[in-house]
Amino acid sequence: MSRKPAVLITGANGEIGQSLIFSLRRADPETRILGLDLRELGEAIRPHCHAAIIGDILDQGLLDRLVGEYEISTIFHLAALLSTRAEFTPETAHQVNVQGTLNLLKLAVEQARWHGSTVKFLFPSSIAVHGIPDFETRESIGPVPEHKWTIPTTMYGCNKLYCENLGRYYTRHYKQLAAEEEGQRIDFRSIRFPGLISAFTTPSGGTSDYAPEMIHAAAKGVPYTCFVRAATRLPFMAMPDAVDAMIKLMAAPAEDLQRVVYNISAFNPSAGEFADLTKAAFPDAEITFSPDVKRERIVHSWPAAVDDRHARAEWGLSPAYDLQRTFDEYLIPNIRERYRT
Ligand code: SER
Repeated sequence: MSRKPAVLITGANGEIGQSLIFSLRRADPETRILGLDLRELGEAIRPHCHAAIIGDILDQGLLDRLVGEYEISTIFHLAALLSTRAEFTPETAHQVNVQGTLNLLKLAVEQARWHGSTVKFLFPSSIAVHGIPDFETRESIGPVPEHKWTIPTTMYGCNKLYCENLGRYYTRHYKQLAAEEEGQRIDFRSIRFPGLISAFTTPSGGTSDYAPEMIHAAAKGVPYTCFVRAATRLPFMAMPDAVDAMIKLMAAPAEDLQRVVYNISAFNPSAGEFADLTKAAFPDAEITFSPDVKRERIVHSWPAAVDDRHARAEWGLSPAYDLQRTFDEYLIPNIRERYRT
């Protein structure tokens, strides 16, 4: 029985998931999306999914049923507990972020074997895989390449770094001692995302959340206290560029790719610069800085800028939005519209 290949998206209801679903369907309205999330999918994305599945990536029975019902050719495995939330429940985070990813990798390998074709797997990694000792060091080291400063200090960072390695293993070395070569394998590709900013959704549970929280609060007319100092710099990207990067990387010919993990970035504002642009758009915005020493320490363990030359050279990363354009053409108009009363 031949079935139409489907794209499985875990964490479909999350910030990246929602944007990705719209973009994939805009690019090809025939795309069959299986949206999996713990929570019911939002009304806006539900009609774009061939199936909306409420469930847990730790539920092996659910994953087995999925494999029985659909031919999965591509997986965007977005489900995860983000960095702040993970520090409150580290063992649960490990379960979801690592065991959940292992479950999906296993599912991908089984699908590849069944259908005799490669299954593509996109894994969103993070700047959180890096661990820099202190503020002064991060200010002096310049843009950080993929292989440097990779001793993370958060559970989330440890999980993401390990899963990058798992993906490389499943793609290049899976069962390397078996008597017979495994036929079809998986094609795992990973992007280390900077902080992401969406006009349409607000993040929850992350540590780069201060930037999107600041602008959404301003648009709602709510005062905002920023939990890092004004001088703190971090790489950020507008959500449309993040989604575009995933689609580009997945479309790149395998022979063009020299690695499985890529840094990407667009702009590296300080929290103070971000506040100034927010106030320029919303002059009544009340933004104050009151660093939370512990959350700020996490942000300061991440690079102030990353070196993304491999992504630009090998698969054509080219973000359309710089900081000013992100505000002028993406955030401000869409956020105003969203909170219009
Ligand atoms: N934005 C994420 C977080 O703050 C980092 O990948 O947890």
